[in-house]
Amino acid sequence: MTEQKPVSDTAATKVHLPDAQTVLSVKHWTDALFSFRVSRPQSLRFRSGEFVMIGLMGDNGKPLLRAYSIASPNWDEELEFYSIKVPDGPLTSKLQHIQPGDEIILRPKPVGTLVHDALLPGKRVWFLATGTGIAPFASLMRDPETYEKYDEVVMMHTCRTVAELEYGRQLVEGLHDDPLIGELVAGKLKYYPTTTREDFHHTGRITDNLSSGKVFADLGLAPMDPATDRAMVCGSLAFNKDVMAVLESFGLREGANSEPREYVVEKAFVGDGV
Ligand SMILES: Cc1cc2nc3c(=O)[nH]c(=O)nc-3n(C[C@H](O)[C@H](O)[C@H](O)COP(=O)(O)OP(=O)(O)OC[C@H]3O[C@@H](n4cnc5c(N)ncnc54)[C@H](O)[C@@H]3O)c2cc1C
Ligand SMILES: NC(=O)c1ccc[n+]([C@@H]2O[C@H](COP(=O)([O-])OP(=O)(O)OC[C@H]3O[C@@H](n4cnc5c(N)ncnc54)[C@H](OP(=O)(O)O)[C@@H]3O)[C@@H](O)[C@H]2O)c1
Repeated sequence: MTEQKPVSDTAATKVHLPDAQTVLSVKHWTDALFSFRVSRPQSLRFRSGEFVMIGLMGDNGKPLLRAYSIASPNWDEELEFYSIKVPDGPLTSKLQHIQPGDEIILRPKPVGTLVHDALLPGKRVWFLATGTGIAPFASLMRDPETYEKYDEVVMMHTCRTVAELEYGRQLVEGLHDDPLIGELVAGKLKYYPTTTREDFHHTGRITDNLSSGKVFADLGLAPMDPATDRAMVCGSLAFNKDVMAVLESFGLREGANSEPREYVVEKAFVGDGV
């Protein structure tokens, strides 16, 4: 096995571009998942749930950028990201080696559909995510506006294994002690993590747990109703397509920034993910 150099030893971080930001901390959750925090450009304003382009200098001397959801809320002084490690991925095969003090490139132009403005007012919002698709909800779950807009917030997150749920679990647990939003969250946020390929107290795909009514029964909630329920979806293309069909079966319609409706969708990554 060849030893890979840390990014800090390579030319990749010696770029000092106007869009360079400093890595402040890195945490590895599994051999395929890590999160990291970077400095926030003073001028960067974003809506919780949006994504930006981040990356490193490529071997060809050009920026190698990918879309990343900002996982931190818009009031945070730092920016947090939650990332996959794709073994042969052009960016993440290198990005997974970043260390505090390294620089990454961050284009400060946030965009995206998973924002409160793209939904009509409602009473209950569902955050539906698989894998790293929890990243935009890590931002939205920490945003006071989420709890001001809704009486109930349900976070459904599904991964293959228990270890892949850990970033979300710790985040949700930490919310209750958070001095800024702990009180807002109390009694409003319902967290429903499931696994599909390992035993856990709740198992099964989000689509199946919604269609069968299991999640409503387990949480003691009424079924989805377009008059009161709103949803935001972030996962693979296949997941998004299937969950949209389930939401439509409950009578919810897809919205957008330009035309708010009952649910919105964003890809967690491009590719079939198989
Ligand atoms: C709007 C948007 C937001 C995104 N936000 C995030 C984010 O917050 N965190 C994140 O890790 N990625 C996110 N991605 C994916 C990200 O842009 C890159 O694809 C990812 O960082 C891998 O880059 P790469 O160059 O190593 O490999 P790529 O060449 O980009 O991807 C190679 C293959 O790896 C798989 N893959 C890529 N990303 C993922 C993923 N996140 N989960 C599972 N499989 C994946 C796909 O099969 C893909 O075809 C987002 C993508 C989009 C479109
Ligand atoms: N080899 C590994 O151990 C490993 C681990 C993680 C990721 N990866 C690779 O990374 C890529 C993405 O993996 P990922 O785990 O982040 O995403 P993923 O394959 O989309 O799976 C994430 C979760 O979403 C569920 N899911 C997938 N498609 C769905 C659909 N159409 N409807 C409802 N639920 C659906 C999966 O359930 P099911 O289990 O029922 O499919 C799983 O629990 C893949 O290429 C994968 O091979 C590999």
